[in-house]
Amino acid sequence: LERTFSILKPDATRRNLTGAINAIIEKAGLRIVAQKRIHMTRGQAETFYGVHKDRPFFGELVEFMTSAPVVVQVLEGENAIAKYREVMGATNPANAAPGTIRKEFALSVGENSAHGSDAAETAAQEIAQFFAGNEIVG
Ligand code: GTP
Ligand code: MG
Repeated sequence: LERTFSILKPDATRRNLTGAINAIIEKAGLRIVAQKRIHMTRGQAETFYGVHKDRPFFGELVEFMTSAPVVVQVLEGENAIAKYREVMGATNPANAAPGTIRKEFALSVGENSAHGSDAAETAAQEIAQFFAGNEIVG
C-alpha cells in the first residue's frame, strides 16, 4: 500500500468542511492513518512550498496557508498518490471534474481546499516534515 500527504487548507477549516472532505476521501477507499490540526508557521509554509518560491503567487500562497488552521494527514491505499490527486480534482476548480473535492468546495485556484503529494519522493518528504513515524498508525 502507498501513502500520500494531504492538507485540508485554511479555506476548508474556516468553512467547517473537514468532515465533508474526509467523507469523500474515505469513500474513495483511502484510509486516514494520521491526522492533526495545526496552525502552520510562516517557516513551515515556506519550506513546504519551497519549490514554488520564485513563482509570482508564492507570497500570497504562504499568507493564505498561515491565515487559519489546516489539517495535515497521511492517507494510505492502493495507488494513494494518484488516487488522491484524482479525488481532489484539477488545481483550478473551474477545471475540476464533478464530484471532486475542488469542484465541490474550492473557492479559487489559490483557495483550493486541499493539497496532495504529486510523486512518491515528495510524499515521503512532506510526510516527514509534519509527522513522526510513531504518529502514523496504519
Ligand atoms: P497542491 O496539491 O496544493 O500542490 O496543488 P497542485 O499540485 O494541484 O498545484 P501546484 O503544485 O501547481 O500549486 C501549489 C498550490 O499553489 C496550489 O494548490 C494553489 O493553492 C497555489 N497556486 C497555484 N497557482 C496559483 C495561482 O495562480 N495563484 C494563487 N494565488 N495560488 C496558486
Ligand atoms: Mg503541487
